[in-house]
Amino acid sequence: MSKFQAPKGVSEYFPPNSEQFEFIRDQLINSAKLAGYSLIELPVFEDTEVFTRGVGESTDVVCKEMYTFEDRGGRSLTLRPEGTAGVMRAVIEHNLDRGQLPVKLFYSGAFFRAERPQAGRYRQFYQVGIEAIGYNDPEIDVEVIAVADSAFKALGLKQYKLNITSLGDSKSRDSHRTELVKYISSLKLDEETTARAKLNPLRLFDDKREEIKQAMSKAPLLLDYLNNESKAHFEEVKKLLTELGIAYTINPRMVRGLDYYTGTTFEFDHALLGAQSGIGGGGRYDGLMNSLGGSDVSGIGFGLGVDRILMAALAEDCLPNDINQLKLFIAPITEKGKTAAFNLLSELRGNGITCDMAYGDRGLKGGMKAADKSGALYGLVIGDDEISSGKCELKLMSSGEVFSSTLTASDLIKRIGSSN
Ligand code: HAM
Repeated sequence: MSKFQAPKGVSEYFPPNSEQFEFIRDQLINSAKLAGYSLIELPVFEDTEVFTRGVGESTDVVCKEMYTFEDRGGRSLTLRPEGTAGVMRAVIEHNLDRGQLPVKLFYSGAFFRAERPQAGRYRQFYQVGIEAIGYNDPEIDVEVIAVADSAFKALGLKQYKLNITSLGDSKSRDSHRTELVKYISSLKLDEETTARAKLNPLRLFDDKREEIKQAMSKAPLLLDYLNNESKAHFEEVKKLLTELGIAYTINPRMVRGLDYYTGTTFEFDHALLGAQSGIGGGGRYDGLMNSLGGSDVSGIGFGLGVDRILMAALAEDCLPNDINQLKLFIAPITEKGKTAAFNLLSELRGNGITCDMAYGDRGLKGGMKAADKSGALYGLVIGDDEISSGKCELKLMSSGEVFSSTLTASDLIKRIGSSN
């Protein structure tokens, strides 16, 4: 065993797996960019209060899972457990909501939660997220959901399901809360659960213990308490999803793990992932900006779990097998061959062709072995004969088929460039 290991429960990616990870992440980002979202790059740590206030003190994320530390100046900082609160902090700090609305932002990076590690649940994990701020019509809710759905479709995923519900506006939530608190007070609960229910009674719907599940099976559901305005909003969301051909299931018992949600909320589950099946989730958070000291501006967004989406894509076997494939691998077998190979590589790379060469003195056999191992589409041997004749043979590695070419970048590009 090596002297040092990565900290417990973190996800790490190195070749060849990292190529698949990068492919998934870039497809998710691409889907956001196609819909007009722009990059926001934020610190991975924030003032702890951004999360305690933003995410909410009744959540596991804040109560049990934050990596909080004091910096040298005595400030309490926390590694970001999620992206939305930090984005809101930045929107408020830099007045990003003063221009055209909605402000459409995406982010991608590592997040940190001190959870019990298991397959698909890590202490450092990766999300691609989007936030659409300053507009609260149903169309933007549906756009956000559609960006996630189109990303999954572009990846070729099929076995996922969208669950949605509505948490309504504050008036709907208040009237439901009164009834729910009444209902909960009739239950016999331990002290910790009672305290948690006091902070956010909805949390009890999310309790994994069988006896609480049983007790909550008859609890009043928020979806039945939506006022006309919230109901109309949710109806419109459902109608637009149907028009876009995005299938959904209404799950009135769905509780998101963060407290800032209002109105439309949703989760995507994948059928082949077992216990950690959530590949993404999000929703509306109309009071968040205000609670962080900004103006009363609404927002909606999602976070997609890149690690789990990679697991899902592997389980469905829908990843292409030529991700980032090298186009050409050159095996020089003489000193002059090496110089020619170097020159060719630099010209080919300048033309956007991925290529590499065998380093060291490997000879013909070793050079071809290296070409094979590289996984490149084409292999090319350069020795003194090729240099003096100015001709070479380009080998399609998958079939062994050979193509004659001159030993010039322009001719090689003609063959290689037309190969995909
Ligand atoms: P979340 O549901 O907590 O939402 O996380 C989003 C996704 O991140 C999950 O569906 C899951 O795929 C992935 N994820 C979460 N925790 C872990 C973990 N420990 N290990 C691996 N993957 C994980 C949010 O974070 C919200 N900020 C999303 C959002 C944006 N809502 C509005 N805007």
